[in-house]
Amino acid sequence: MSTTRMLVAGTRLHLALAGRLPLDAPGLLASTRAFPLGPDRVQVVTDLRRLEDLFDGQCLDDLPGLPSRASRRRQIEFIGGRLAAERALARAGANPEAPVARGSRGQPEWPAGWTGSISHTASHAYAVATRASGPAGIGIDAEVVVDSRTRADILSICAVAEELPRLERLGRENEAATLLFSAKEAYYKCVFPLARDFVEFDEVVLAELDPATGRVAVEPTPRTRFDGVLPRARGAFRIQAGILFVGLVADPSTGGAEYA
Ligand SMILES: CC(C)(COP(=O)(O)OP(=O)(O)OC[C@H]1O[C@@H](n2cnc3c(N)ncnc32)[C@H](O)[C@@H]1OP(=O)(O)O)[C@@H](O)C(=O)NCCC(=O)NCCS
Repeated sequence: MSTTRMLVAGTRLHLALAGRLPLDAPGLLASTRAFPLGPDRVQVVTDLRRLEDLFDGQCLDDLPGLPSRASRRRQIEFIGGRLAAERALARAGANPEAPVARGSRGQPEWPAGWTGSISHTASHAYAVATRASGPAGIGIDAEVVVDSRTRADILSICAVAEELPRLERLGRENEAATLLFSAKEAYYKCVFPLARDFVEFDEVVLAELDPATGRVAVEPTPRTRFDGVLPRARGAFRIQAGILFVGLVADPSTGGAEYA
């Protein structure tokens, strides 16, 4: 392991920020239930505008673990996600010194025995943390509900034929397209520890969508190169103030071998 990698893997941002940022400042970090996941999944949100205000123009380039050549906005987004993840892990009972490193494909590397997921909007960074119950984990995604032009793009790029009747039953076309995209992004995050590779949108399918309860399930299609590798994932979505929040948890009984 290189020195840089050791530094990244061994450093928690909230420790690196001690003395530079009042992490207990009102309105910075808060518990949330934005994602419809069970109560044993701890969710924390960072207010990114508050974070930027608190930094008050400080240069952030020396902080450990930041993605290289990141813009200021991306630095704030990344720090916000890590702070939320570290707070969520601590609230869930993990060792408060255990870091959430950044893997070579951008994936968060959770401490042994724990898993979680991170998502951002322009104004907030969200994280969920929970005990790991298998190699695949949990995936969350928050997306602004798209307009009708983006809806057409999503349907042409991300949809497979069998999903269309399900999406139509939801009725609200822009929300349905946002859900399709967002659920597949959440699925990718959830199963990345198994896939360790890019998963194409047509390799997975929104297999269930209950408009009444918001419950959804995503699973690999028979066409996937990950056949027998990737599990089904179940979860739910909700929409609040124009943002769609979806959370998925892998069902280890439906697959879960590492992709060689
Ligand atoms: C990685 C990806 C899913 C991120 O989604 P996004 O909507 O652009 O961004 P979000 O803010 O919701 O999520 C970003 C966070 O996802 C996490 N993430 C990035 N790559 C990841 C991976 N391979 N596995 C798990 N989580 C990952 C990171 O924590 C990242 O935040 P950070 O860099 O600040 O730590 C997306 O950019 C991507 O590459 N998608 C292509 C693959 C895909 O979605 N396939 C769909 C069919 S399964």
